[in-house]
Amino acid sequence: MGATATVPSLPGSRARRTTPEQASGPLDGLLRRPTRATPRALGQAAAERTVHPSALSDTRQSMGQFQWEPDSYRALMRQEVPDYERLQAELVEATRGITARSILELGTGTGETTRRILAAHPQARLRGIDSSPEMLAAARSALAGHDIRLDVARIEDPLPDGPFDLIVSALTIHHLDGPDKAALFIRIADLLPPGGRFVLADIVVPEDPNDVVTPIDPVDYDKPSSTSEQLAWLIAAGLTARPHWVHRDLAVLVGDRPTDSIRGGEFS
Ligand SMILES: C[S@@+](CC[C@H](N)C(=O)[O-])C[C@H]1O[C@@H](n2cnc3c(N)ncnc32)[C@H](O)[C@@H]1O
Repeated sequence: MGATATVPSLPGSRARRTTPEQASGPLDGLLRRPTRATPRALGQAAAERTVHPSALSDTRQSMGQFQWEPDSYRALMRQEVPDYERLQAELVEATRGITARSILELGTGTGETTRRILAAHPQARLRGIDSSPEMLAAARSALAGHDIRLDVARIEDPLPDGPFDLIVSALTIHHLDGPDKAALFIRIADLLPPGGRFVLADIVVPEDPNDVVTPIDPVDYDKPSSTSEQLAWLIAAGLTARPHWVHRDLAVLVGDRPTDSIRGGEFS
């Protein structure tokens, strides 16, 4: 098992070398692409871990039929992301201090992040988007009674009209490559009013390769970036950026829109 796969990275960043075990694992399905809609998802993923990288393209072809499995999502997440609860808690903590009347969530999934955010901001109206109708159906059921609007949409496509006092995203934006993340951060910044905040919780490329904990498919589906890259892109988008929490290959980053920022050519 000495073969390795190299993660393509942006100019100026380091490529991450991974073992086949890291190159394909359970989150290969959960974080990147739809998982098979059966309880076999874990076993299937475990089997994939033994697949040599050169054989992955065939495996992915068959994975094209996978569907998200909302019923098993929660248990699988807790099993595959040891610090999942902490990541969610730190995301919520990073939103403190913002009086949010309107919130946008990118990648709502089954509503795990949503319900925590709504508990911390009970006065807010939340709008969420996700590319999976099945995941959003589960979220609608779990969040019945809340003042929310959930739409099937991709984060690559035009975002809902703002402004939003708070924009959050957990374990979703790593699906985009570096340039697309940078472009998304600009679109997000445009939706924030002066004083608004964006909180990103996601897997990252850690400085120390030994801190890679989350199994991903780095060849095609999972495209995590480093904390420093993403902070730079947030700053380039006009936000005041800082890390809120970084632990191994997970991070919660904050981008604040300055209160004196220029909007549409005018100071606001
Ligand atoms: C790992 S789940 C995270 C859900 C929730 N935020 C959480 O932390 O539990 C990732 C979600 O991102 C969605 N997703 C993946 N790629 C997406 C894209 N390009 N646009 C919108 N949603 C996407 C998936 O459908 C899935 O529901």
